[in-house]
Amino acid sequence: MNSRPQSPWPGVIHHYAEHLPVTCETPIVTLLEGNTPLIHVPNFVAAISGKFELHVKCEALNPTCSFKDRGMTLAVSKAKERGAEVIICASTGNTSASAAAYAARAKMKCVVLLPNGSIALGKLAQALMYGATTISIEGNFDEALRIVRELGETGKVEVVNSINPFRIEGQKTAAFEICDALGDAPDFHFLPVGNAGNITAYWKGYQEYHAAEKCDTLPKMYGWQAAGAAPIVDGHPVTDPQTVASAIRIGYPAGWPGATAAWQESKGHIGKVTDGEILAAYKLIARTDGIFAEPASCAPLAGLIKCVQNGTIPEGSLIVATLTGHGLKDPDCAIKTAGFVPIIVPPTKEAVMKVMGL
Ligand code: F0G
Repeated sequence: MNSRPQSPWPGVIHHYAEHLPVTCETPIVTLLEGNTPLIHVPNFVAAISGKFELHVKCEALNPTCSFKDRGMTLAVSKAKERGAEVIICASTGNTSASAAAYAARAKMKCVVLLPNGSIALGKLAQALMYGATTISIEGNFDEALRIVRELGETGKVEVVNSINPFRIEGQKTAAFEICDALGDAPDFHFLPVGNAGNITAYWKGYQEYHAAEKCDTLPKMYGWQAAGAAPIVDGHPVTDPQTVASAIRIGYPAGWPGATAAWQESKGHIGKVTDGEILAAYKLIARTDGIFAEPASCAPLAGLIKCVQNGTIPEGSLIVATLTGHGLKDPDCAIKTAGFVPIIVPPTKEAVMKVMGL
């Protein structure tokens, strides 16, 4: 490694180098991603009448506020190692934010293709601020990804979507961190599924840690899609995916085979939850435990509520759910969901006390 770590946490590549495809020649492009908190949320569990232990992996605490940074540090470092000058991705928002930030850090050009009109405002702001060339496609994520694949074949750009295997390699470090924090793998791992890179990455991470004897067990992988964008659950691509959880509005996931392997090999499950169920979980975890995650991140929490109702989780289970992105990424959805009604009063103590019922 050619840059000396200067922080107590050196980023995922330095920390897990022995498990990653890097050498001392790899120029490491890092924003000190990873080492995110795994927070025990007993209040949420009590509110849903669960009889298990739930910890949430708060990936919003990464540098661009989503899990994408774990894979992006490796994808961009390897692109730099190969001498690439331009990186490109299609995105529902978070990949573009992350790619743009790591490209800036690496002094590379970044081009992002976004489905026009369906990107959460915070994510668009990030791509613009980090200086990416931001192109809106008159189409959805799946169409944008098709174009990116075609551009990748020209050899002129480096694709940093999760079809790039280095993205998966970097993202698997979240499974390592969970095992390191808990002393073993959990019984169940719940997470949202969109393009299906992350479920593929987690399952790879758990399996590799198990093979390296760093954990004794493997979790059952429980992935959750939004009901209006649930190709894996429904068993066919969805041509016009729709959901309030814009991050996972994907009808033809590139990681479909990896997701299928993950849930089948782990004896897990792929399920779907409605927008109403997602938004209820989104509001609940914010109010029970002070954790504000974006709507897509809350699909697995909605899935967990469904499992409690169906009685499919054995009492006393140890469960981890990944909260993939920050709630502040999508302020419009938050304000709509919380129902903002301004209370405007004259500037007096009495007026405030009246509102407080005092
Ligand atoms: N949660 C969030 C917040 C995401 O941004 C994504 C994917 C997922 C979950 C699903 O992860 O695709 O690995 O199954 N976002 C991508 C993007 C598609 O472009 O930002 P996945």
